[in-house]
Amino acid sequence: MSERRSESGFPVKPIYRAEDLPADLAERLGEPGEYPFTRGVYPTMYTSRPWTMRQYAGFGTAAESNARYRQLLAAGTMGLSVAFDLPTQMGYDSDASIAHGEVGKVGVAIDSIEDMRVLFSEIPLDKVSTSMTINAPASVLLLLYQLVAEEHGVPGSALSGTIQNDILKEYIARGTYIFPPKPSLRLVSDTFAYCRKEIPRWNTISISGYHMAEAGATPVQEIAFTLANGVAYVRAALEAGLNVDDFAPRLSFFFVARTTLLEEVAKFRAARRIWARIMREEFGAQNPKSWMLRFHTQTAGVQLTAQQPEVNLIRVAVQALGAVMGGTQSLHTNSYDEAIALPTEKAARLALRTQQVIAYESDLTATVDPFAGSYVVEAMTDEIEQAAVALMEQVADYGSAVEAIEAGFQKREIESSAYRIAQEIDNGDRVVVGVNRFTLDEEEPYEPMRVDPAIEAAQAARLAELRASRDNAAVDRALADLRAAAEGTENVLYPMKEALRARATVGEVCGALREVWGVYRPSDRF
Ligand code: 3HC
Repeated sequence: MSERRSESGFPVKPIYRAEDLPADLAERLGEPGEYPFTRGVYPTMYTSRPWTMRQYAGFGTAAESNARYRQLLAAGTMGLSVAFDLPTQMGYDSDASIAHGEVGKVGVAIDSIEDMRVLFSEIPLDKVSTSMTINAPASVLLLLYQLVAEEHGVPGSALSGTIQNDILKEYIARGTYIFPPKPSLRLVSDTFAYCRKEIPRWNTISISGYHMAEAGATPVQEIAFTLANGVAYVRAALEAGLNVDDFAPRLSFFFVARTTLLEEVAKFRAARRIWARIMREEFGAQNPKSWMLRFHTQTAGVQLTAQQPEVNLIRVAVQALGAVMGGTQSLHTNSYDEAIALPTEKAARLALRTQQVIAYESDLTATVDPFAGSYVVEAMTDEIEQAAVALMEQVADYGSAVEAIEAGFQKREIESSAYRIAQEIDNGDRVVVGVNRFTLDEEEPYEPMRVDPAIEAAQAARLAELRASRDNAAVDRALADLRAAAEGTENVLYPMKEALRARATVGEVCGALREVWGVYRPSDRF
């Protein structure tokens, strides 16, 4: 039998045996819900509550996305997950010239409190948890969410959800950054401090490996670079004077689930064990909640194919199984048509149904960590843990994740992995069903969903109306207060909230911070 290699590059044995298990397996495993959490973060895991079925969605105007959220809630989704368009993610208003052609395209356009009101109309914010995939302007969108909740009498203490708020991976792989690292990390720490006081159940960051994986990172690179970014955020918060147990319980993570599900299950288990050790041993956290690596998973978008798109239903099901057997807390399953365009309503529903079949028809919620003791998964868990720790040490040799980013280290490592994968697909060593094997002579036609470009003009009209009807002197005063806070050491979220309450726009608030902090310019070192 020829020896295969894992996605992370280590050999996969045709047969694993008892001798492949670590001698101290019981200690390395621990109990579910106990340090080092190898078997899962909660004692009962899905036996008492399934993972949150949280489908990422958002496009066009706030009204269109609100309709999709209500469709998803009616179809049984258990948590919301907002996709914002690029202008919003980059801190520009829909009528900014740089926004032309992108308004409402890859997510929903949110310019002000008025759009946020529409986005969540008829959705009870004290009953749903909402994730927002927003990074550089994460604090801005969180405050808009809180302001809308307050208008409905829902206090910050009753809100639950997550902002992605993970600027470091934006420098490495995703690109929606605004400010340079130092002010960006200050903004992250200000957000930690604000949420601890004002929105205590909010998960203040979703430290993400997903996008690095989509850019080509192997499972080991995905967790090593993600956890190294996590260490940088913890250090920044400690340097800002926060106590580790005051913010660490509300850190969360976000990983991919690839089709290679055995290695993915091992990856999740290794990540929990590494993070638990870092938080208890390196940072001295005392609260067990500070040691828990709670994470969201999205099935691998980059493994979807435009060819024979229905085949993606099977890929997503296998990937979702890996996430569930790996102990995810929240899961997004990709729609089968997403390699072609934004998902149709039917494709989005089928993606959710995939999770519901696994949760309610399989026996995977009957027991915790089903792979515990498995020769192959325990051996892979150890293999991945050792390789990831070694790679984290390479990052640390630069001083920290930020210095490594500025030296281009993570980017180079990921790009070389991406190149290897592309070569394997091109030479047929890596089979992609429907693409380089088992292909059709002629693909069947598929009618994708399209976003109406007219929404750009509609959003610009809404902004003109907002600016004409608000108290512009009050907005100017509020923005001046925000700039003053950004120049000083005051937590910027408080003046930011008052500016947004006065109907300052996302673009105006981010513009005020750009004036003080400048913008990030990636080094061209490769
Ligand atoms: N025993 C005890 N308690 C349990 C339990 C169990 N078995 N299961 C759940 N609970 C409790 C939890 O403790 C929690 O209590 P809390 O409210 O006091 O914290 C509550 O029930 C909810 O459980 P979880 O926190 O585990 O589940 P959530 O779904 O609320 O949170 C998360 C999961 C990972 C911590 C959170 O950060 C989250 O939802 N993240 C989602 C991130 C996301 O959706 N990102 C989308 C990215 S898309 C993107 O980036 C772009 C695209 O292009 C890729």
